[in-house]
Amino acid sequence: APETHALGPLKGRHVIVTSGPTHEPIDPVRYIANRSSGAQGAAIAVALRDLGARVSFVTGPAVVPAPEGVGVIRVETAMQMRDAVEAALPAEAAVMAAAVADWRVVNSSQRKMKKDGTGQPPALEMAENPDILAWISNLKAKRPSLVVGFAAETDDVIANATAKRQRKGCDWIVANDVSPSTGIMGGSENAVTLIRADGVEEWPRMGKDEVARQLAAKIAKELG
Ligand code: CTP
Ligand code: CA
Repeated sequence: APETHALGPLKGRHVIVTSGPTHEPIDPVRYIANRSSGAQGAAIAVALRDLGARVSFVTGPAVVPAPEGVGVIRVETAMQMRDAVEAALPAEAAVMAAAVADWRVVNSSQRKMKKDGTGQPPALEMAENPDILAWISNLKAKRPSLVVGFAAETDDVIANATAKRQRKGCDWIVANDVSPSTGIMGGSENAVTLIRADGVEEWPRMGKDEVARQLAAKIAKELG
């Protein structure tokens, strides 16, 4: 209920949450996507909202519906997501839970691509997308005081995620193993490791909602 939100520890605080996949168009009817359902990002937005935060929820085309009681900004591509995050600043904290496409198609077509009869598929030319997490982490005046990233890995989860935190310059990384055998991509549970400058905390496997509540509580504590 709104009354309880208004009393929460994050009352008056603005938090940006990115969520879901991005879609990178190939032509008007085709796109490149990934298996993110947006469940973890939506759960984080809910948990922050329930602690009283004003949440800007920047979401790609997710499977799960956007939560109530948050400011929803819908985008399709990584470029649009970056612009939407920039427009939502300033914020005290940013949680980048989106599975941003690493590449976009630079020779995408305004018209539906057609088979040309030769049996040769079209060559898609790709370019790297802007890294929204690294960009926001390195802002000068407008950097949120707490920037949280995710690291979806299938191998050497902690080593890769620790390196990722340093490379990008964010404060915390929520690392998870997204190997198909874990069932985490698209599932309702998550097994995460929270990586901060001062150490690594392995959390037991739990529902994505519970991961979100624990993370939101830590964010509230950190923002003080
Ligand atoms: N991220 C982002 N913008 C991108 C790519 C990733 O903001 N263009 C963010 C994600 O939202 C996540 C974090 O960076 O919080 C890590 O994403 P991940 O895909 O694990 O890392 P990458 O840097 O893309 O590295 P790689 O996929 O090559 O492991
Ligand atoms: Ca990536």
